[in-house]
Amino acid sequence: MIKFILGIIIGVVLALGGLYLYLTRGGLQMSTTSAPLPLERYFAHHALAASIGKAADKQSPVAADDATFLAGAQVYDKNCMGCHGRFGQGPSGLSKRMYPHIPPLLPPAKGVTDDPVGGTHWVVSNGIRFSGMPSFSPKLSDTEIWQVSQLLKNADHLPAPVQEVLRGKQ
Ligand code: HEC
Repeated sequence: MIKFILGIIIGVVLALGGLYLYLTRGGLQMSTTSAPLPLERYFAHHALAASIGKAADKQSPVAADDATFLAGAQVYDKNCMGCHGRFGQGPSGLSKRMYPHIPPLLPPAKGVTDDPVGGTHWVVSNGIRFSGMPSFSPKLSDTEIWQVSQLLKNADHLPAPVQEVLRGKQ
């Protein structure tokens, strides 16, 4: 029994020592151009989904109508466009210089149109740690966050005047 416990302690110490050496000897490259770590995307994806949790099921208090999309487009124009890019243009110039890359959220990209609007509302309110995605609560009101979330959920069928705002033409 003593040998078994000793074995576990030595195993843990070796693992921690290995991790320490890995981190302090440059094993973990912090450059934005370095390749992802093994399983990094898997863990990041699952940790985010678990953090969002039941918030994904929240129903939006603002309707998915043209007035909401127009208001959401104004919010996007002022707060998100610099990073996430304009309508019709794909990723912004900044996108690939950050790690993780900033995902385009407007057509021609699919963005978050397949995700529940409650999940997008959670991401915009709380931001995403280790990524550069800022939290917007309380900078934006909860209504503004729902408006921009509804805009992004419905980004693949927006009316022309809303698209114009998102192209940066108004
Ligand atoms: C400083 C740059 C920056 C700004 C400003 C910014 N974002 Fe982000 N955003 C990011 C990055 C980087 C990610 C990627 C996070 C990741 O991959 O984990 C992201 C991710 C997201 C996602 C998740 C996308 C997905 O595929 O699941 C949503 C939704 C989002 N942002 C919405 C917004 C909205 C809405 C605004 C404006 C209110 C905004 N962002 C402003 C950098 C930014």
